[in-house]
Amino acid sequence: MKPVVWVPIRDERLSPEAWRRLCRILEPVAEVVGPDLPEALEPRVVALLVFKFREEVSPEKLRRLRSLRWIQAITAGVDHILKDPLPQGVQVLHTPSPNADAIAEHVLALFLAAAKRIVFHTEAMRRGAFPQGTESRRLKGATLLVVGLGNIGCAVAERARCLGMRIIGIRRRPRPKCGVRTVFPLDKLLQVLPRADAVVLALPLTSETEGLIGEEALARMKPDTILINVARGRIIDAEALYRHLQSHPNFVAALDVWWRYPVPGEPFRQPVPLETLPNVIMTPHVAPVVPGFLDRMVLAAARRLRRKLAQSLYSATPKSLES
Ligand SMILES: NC(=O)c1ccc[n+]([C@@H]2O[C@H](COP(=O)([O-])OP(=O)(O)OC[C@H]3O[C@@H](n4cnc5c(N)ncnc54)[C@H](OP(=O)(O)O)[C@@H]3O)[C@@H](O)[C@H]2O)c1
Repeated sequence: MKPVVWVPIRDERLSPEAWRRLCRILEPVAEVVGPDLPEALEPRVVALLVFKFREEVSPEKLRRLRSLRWIQAITAGVDHILKDPLPQGVQVLHTPSPNADAIAEHVLALFLAAAKRIVFHTEAMRRGAFPQGTESRRLKGATLLVVGLGNIGCAVAERARCLGMRIIGIRRRPRPKCGVRTVFPLDKLLQVLPRADAVVLALPLTSETEGLIGEEALARMKPDTILINVARGRIIDAEALYRHLQSHPNFVAALDVWWRYPVPGEPFRQPVPLETLPNVIMTPHVAPVVPGFLDRMVLAAARRLRRKLAQSLYSATPKSLES
């Protein structure tokens, strides 16, 4: 009897065609079961394929999955899965973003909006002003620091290069990647920050990266840095950022990710009132949201999980299972 992969994702943005393809990908190695998992199949579940794990799988259900070995997230960040203890021996797997192109386009939109003062001008003109005397930034030759050179960071670097920017990067293994030749480890962050005109955060939230951008890091940045966060809110210390933005009016924070997420019906509210500051540009965690984004995430995750299952079922991955 085949092991079972349970997919408890109920999001209506996932297309029926993606469901069919997901089943075709996993069926050589497992039986795939949709959100309503019959109790009789619980003992055979070895893996979950999840999106919003804590909403999709109750603690009681999780306790009953006695053969569970892998939780395959369809997301690149798995901090939401790791924030509470999991059953012993269960491994959490991430999926580097298959929507990195869309996210990098979003980063560029935030970056150009900040550099060219698009939101400032739009708001001024709505009030009847016509502030032609305000200069914007020249980007050619400016330095961009990409913190996290994975799928997203590399897609950002590729686009920023087209603007004539110099790119430097930070990753765990400080070796050149995707054409970025100047690469440092994370412990060199404070030394590297003074060189950057813009900083993009594109690394996971972990115990090592939580609060990474705090008072000290902000103080090392140029006073007119553009800081873009598409990773996770808590990588930045919210209070320190708020104080820094107040005292440095030319510093801009462009944020897609947040510290608190409102439940439906609740207003948007953060630990500090960043939305009241003119040097903040905001989007509601929508960087990857383009047509078919969820389908791409599910299918990329399914391919990664298939490889994992195949490796554990057979000593070598059969050619027919490789993507
Ligand atoms: N705004 C959104 O909607 C959205 C969407 C997708 C993802 N995200 C966030 O973006 C993050 C990156 O996504 P991705 O798809 O680019 O992931 P990825 O391909 O796995 O890349 C992660 C990058 O971060 C680096 N990194 C990891 N831990 C690090 C550490 N402790 N110090 C320094 N560098 C570290 C990795 O270094 P190595 O290259 O050495 O491995 C890699 O370059 C995710 O974790 C997620 O939180 C946000």
